[in-house]
Amino acid sequence: MDKSLKKIAIITSGGDAPGMNAAIRSVVRTCVYKGITPMGFYKGYDGLINGKMIELNARSVKGIINKGGTILKTARSKDFRSKEGRDKAFKNLKFNNIDGLIVIGGDGTFTGGLIFGEENNFPVIGIPATIDNDIFGTSHTIGFDSACNTVMSAIDKIRDTASSHNRLFFVEVMGRDAGHIALNTGVASGAEEILIPEENLGEERLIQSLKRSKKTGKSSSIVVVAEGDDTGENVYELKKYVEKHLPDYDARVSVLGHMQRGGSPTCFDRVLASRLGVKAVELMIKGESNIMVGLQNNIVEITPFKKAIKGITKINTELLKVSDIMSI
Ligand code: F6P
Repeated sequence: MDKSLKKIAIITSGGDAPGMNAAIRSVVRTCVYKGITPMGFYKGYDGLINGKMIELNARSVKGIINKGGTILKTARSKDFRSKEGRDKAFKNLKFNNIDGLIVIGGDGTFTGGLIFGEENNFPVIGIPATIDNDIFGTSHTIGFDSACNTVMSAIDKIRDTASSHNRLFFVEVMGRDAGHIALNTGVASGAEEILIPEENLGEERLIQSLKRSKKTGKSSSIVVVAEGDDTGENVYELKKYVEKHLPDYDARVSVLGHMQRGGSPTCFDRVLASRLGVKAVELMIKGESNIMVGLQNNIVEITPFKKAIKGITKINTELLKVSDIMSI
């Protein structure tokens, strides 16, 4: 046990994700439970640099477990990429007698945390939170399940109008370099095709599949496209391509955008955030550093930052097969 641990800093960083507040709440209450003072810094690493912070207590995180966004605000800090910025941050932490840092975010956040921890020999522990679910070492990142549910209900609504007008809809979903949201929501909403960056299915396959759909009597179709899909076409070009080759189709595009990052977290994300927050503080007390806590086979496990950042999260290819069979 690290007896010197008296004060811990907490930040949320990178793209926000539903459940970040639940994670803050969990870290704060675990700190209080263990006799540690939790300090919240605003706007991710920028807050460490400019010293904008607030002392938190069990009551200051009341009523936030069900709230989207993050009460600590977030940012993708440019200044923290420079040694000068990180030195300022370290000075601020030392000046405020802070003994450790818990970062809630995605791979960019962990990359910053790793560099900072190594440079200053300062304890840093990460909690994975991003809707993209693209962090190695955890089956689920906080926010992924909530975003999938938001996308699923949006596509259900799009399906209503698609089938009323006999239309084909291209629905673009988030996931910069990862197809997890597209794949899961595509299956959950009965999409005819799912296009993801990890698998290049090619436009020709899409044309054949849509032809087949028409032949089998389908009057409307949904194609879910991950924003970074590997056809290399953006969703509007894809629509043009299909209209050119299948002029019978009346096609529309719906880009869901940032609404996917908002909203109240699901039960799954609230429970996950609560579990990971407790574990992160417990591990920091034990003297761990430069690691991420994550879920593996429903058990909270540790992954070194280095692995979490470099490792590749594989998509579940079984879902591609399931989608193929379901969309006959
Ligand atoms: O990292 C999560 C994510 O939602 C990506 O899927 C998306 O590309 C990106 O954030 C967009 O973020 P922003 O508009 O904040 O730059």
